[in-house]
Amino acid sequence: MSDLVRFGVSLEQPLLERFDDLIRERQYTNRSEALRDLIRRELVQREWREGRDVAGAITLIYDHHKKDVLAKVVDTQHDFQQVIISTQHIHLDHHNCLEIIAARGKAEEVHKLADALKSIKGVRHGTLSMSSTGKEIE
Ligand code: NI
Repeated sequence: MSDLVRFGVSLEQPLLERFDDLIRERQYTNRSEALRDLIRRELVQREWREGRDVAGAITLIYDHHKKDVLAKVVDTQHDFQQVIISTQHIHLDHHNCLEIIAARGKAEEVHKLADALKSIKGVRHGTLSMSSTGKEIE
């Protein structure tokens, strides 16, 4: 772990009160931990914007009975196997499947994969959780 450095922050009183409300709401133990998270969130967003190596998870909800949807989901994953680390398929009920695809690679490729999967006809919901390889947010 890196050495800790202390620095002072000047804030308007109302803004600080809102920040403290947020800290309580999100259950942070102190302002430093909340501030670290805010900074890391910005850094991770920049990693994606700048097309760096990133990691993330795509979640899909689809009805496997719908024509061709399962085949298309699988075909797309084979096309992007260089960025897919693992896939988990959960049968939610008789119709609905939840699929979680962990991905790591260039931001643009992961975005392309997520867009390709979400746009498949029969995929009812899809999200991309944009996270980090963790290397640059120590
Ligand atoms: Ni299933």
